[in-house]
Amino acid sequence: MGSEETEQPPAPASERLATDYERRAPVATLVAIGAVASVLGIALALLIDWFPTAATTQAQSIDTLYDVLLIASVPIFVLVMVVVLYCVWRFRMRPGEEEKDGPPIHGNTRLEVIWTLIPALLMLGLSTYAYVVLKDIEEAPAAGQELNVRVVGEQFTWTFFYEGPGDEEVASPQLHLPVDRSVRFTIQTKDVLHSFWVPEFRMKLDTVPGIDTSYRVTPNREGTYAVVCAELCGIGHATMRQTVRVMPAEEFEAWLQERAEGADSAQGAGGEQRAEEVDGAAVFAAAGCGGCHVLADAGANGDTGPDLDEVLPDRDRDHILQSIVEPNAEITPGYSPGIMPPNYDDTLTEQELQALTDYLHEVTR
Ligand code: CUA
Repeated sequence: MGSEETEQPPAPASERLATDYERRAPVATLVAIGAVASVLGIALALLIDWFPTAATTQAQSIDTLYDVLLIASVPIFVLVMVVVLYCVWRFRMRPGEEEKDGPPIHGNTRLEVIWTLIPALLMLGLSTYAYVVLKDIEEAPAAGQELNVRVVGEQFTWTFFYEGPGDEEVASPQLHLPVDRSVRFTIQTKDVLHSFWVPEFRMKLDTVPGIDTSYRVTPNREGTYAVVCAELCGIGHATMRQTVRVMPAEEFEAWLQERAEGADSAQGAGGEQRAEEVDGAAVFAAAGCGGCHVLADAGANGDTGPDLDEVLPDRDRDHILQSIVEPNAEITPGYSPGIMPPNYDDTLTEQELQALTDYLHEVTR
């Protein structure tokens, strides 16, 4: 410790001996305390469940990296705390020492070299390891193996676009992914900064106006997880949550096919015939309308948006349809514009929109 290299006024020989003895004893004790505390600290740090389920191969590498960082940093934290607490206790002011100044210390070159070198080597080692992990989790799979998904954020919703059969893109309000296949997200925004995050995937990236950002993951665990906006983006930020379903590859292909056909027939001649097959109440439930609106028929009691039982009677179908696809065209007094997702025109098919409109008209008149 620095205080040991002090230039004190010469002390009687007997006193100097005593100080020499005191000097050595604490170092051994401090090392012992530090070692025990480090082991306990590391055990505790590794026992704590820091993260949600790991649902991608990337998540596993990242969690291992995190554990290694914990193992490296806990002993350093313990070392610093042991020395600080020891010094507070050992060199505290005793009665009668109020006027005394500390000993003048001019430095210790060897000690300074050591305490610069060790952290420098540690930093170098850990950042090299982190860089290797980063390269590894960003590695592209063989050409053609990867699923591309375009993620578009806007106040206050996400829309997910898939490459459909032909040139048409297929849009979905919920993210569906096949298990065990690398997926590359191209992340965009229509307005402000958002942040595309699935905690179970561990990766998180901002959407930046004007540029595309991107990351890849390989989901390796089937299940339903939350898609969260992790960047404060306006008054509806907290409602900007959707879900991702990781499913077997065949199930995913079937879903994508069905979705693509739905979008096709919306423009095609078969549209009218199929419209009758779509159930408006089911669309209301699937699109999550009840999360924000009251509608007695659907047992919905959300209070973010207007009470539909109150505002829809006396309104015609055109008005209802416009309120769904262009929610800011007319705002019910007492509510703010920009809260309701403006993307239902993209994410619901023509038949779904018609069915939803008919349903709302029917149950509120
Ligand atoms: Cu979008 Cu917060």
